[in-house]
Amino acid sequence: MKLLVTGGLGFIGSNFILHILKNYPNYKIVNVDDELPGSNRLNLTEIENSDNYRFVKGNITDQVVMEKLIRDCDQIINFAAESHVDRSIANAKPFIDSNIIGVFTILELLKKHKKRLIQISTDEVFGNLKSGSAIEDSKLNPSSPYSSSKASAELLVNSYIITYGVKAIITRCTNNYGPRQFIEKLIPKTIILAYHDKKIPIYNNGKGMRDWIHVDDHCSAISTLIHDGIDGEKYNIAAQNEYDVLTVVKKILSIMGKPSDNFEFAENRPGHDDRYSMDSTKIQNTMQWKPKIDFEQGLTDTVNWYLNNKNWWSGFDLKILDGYQWKS
Ligand SMILES: NC(=O)c1ccc[n+]([C@@H]2O[C@H](COP(=O)([O-])OP(=O)(O)OC[C@H]3O[C@@H](n4cnc5c(N)ncnc54)[C@H](O)[C@@H]3O)[C@@H](O)[C@H]2O)c1
Repeated sequence: MKLLVTGGLGFIGSNFILHILKNYPNYKIVNVDDELPGSNRLNLTEIENSDNYRFVKGNITDQVVMEKLIRDCDQIINFAAESHVDRSIANAKPFIDSNIIGVFTILELLKKHKKRLIQISTDEVFGNLKSGSAIEDSKLNPSSPYSSSKASAELLVNSYIITYGVKAIITRCTNNYGPRQFIEKLIPKTIILAYHDKKIPIYNNGKGMRDWIHVDDHCSAISTLIHDGIDGEKYNIAAQNEYDVLTVVKKILSIMGKPSDNFEFAENRPGHDDRYSMDSTKIQNTMQWKPKIDFEQGLTDTVNWYLNNKNWWSGFDLKILDGYQWKS
């Protein structure tokens, strides 16, 4: 199988490429990434000279580049996106470009080239849930420019399935954690600030409830879907590990042997959602996929990965971790 992975220098895309090449060494992967926020070339140095892997620096909104790549692949797995909610609040334009125009560019090409798209989406499209868990057909109700751009992409994909018979699957996943996540995101940020004995800034009194899944479990779900998923379907991917942000930060401080009060509450960010939650019964029952990684073990392994790979993050300007508000 020849896979075109977009955004493969980012957190989930790079873990996905490594997951596929480990489990399917005969597959060929082309990774197109424009090295925007979230990317890190170090993510894939271990395979950069492999015969079955090729990196192309390019933007998914570039129709010429994308046509050449789509023509030569069997499936496209679209991870490429601006992914940081705080950045979307500071400036939504890049989110509209990558997350909507980028998907539109791919969909237009798929009218001509009959390849299958796996569109990687997020639980954030369902917005704030007071209770219960979103199923595949729950109402889209996004709150931030980021989640709105992802919901817009979903609607576009759906319309191209219905109108043009484009072959596509939409996956939504809950909060991923694991190795290679950009340092601005909660878990790596907490680990790195704690390592430097700095206080961890926390929004919303740490009460924001999130459902955490190890990135390897997310990757195994996507792998299941590229093999057995049904065109036109949506699949929610979750591991049912609901913890609020404060609990997660305290768990990390405890794993690192740091004082449990090494945090400070920051001003709440606008449009902050209190809770996301999804039901993943559909993929579990119809695809026999199950998450395997225990949260406590996965979190400990993640902390150890960052502590054992300081060269991975030491190149970044750590000043971006000092403020709770991302500044443009
Ligand atoms: N991180 C999570 O918890 C999570 C949860 C659910 C869904 N998702 C979705 O998964 C995908 C990957 O998320 P991530 O956390 O790995 O993000 P990330 O920010 O770590 O990586 C995104 C990658 O996409 C690339 N990119 C962005 N716009 C591009 C463009 N126009 N052209 C080419 N490359 C571009 C960036 O350079 C980067 O390498 C996103 O679509 C995100 O919405 C993430």
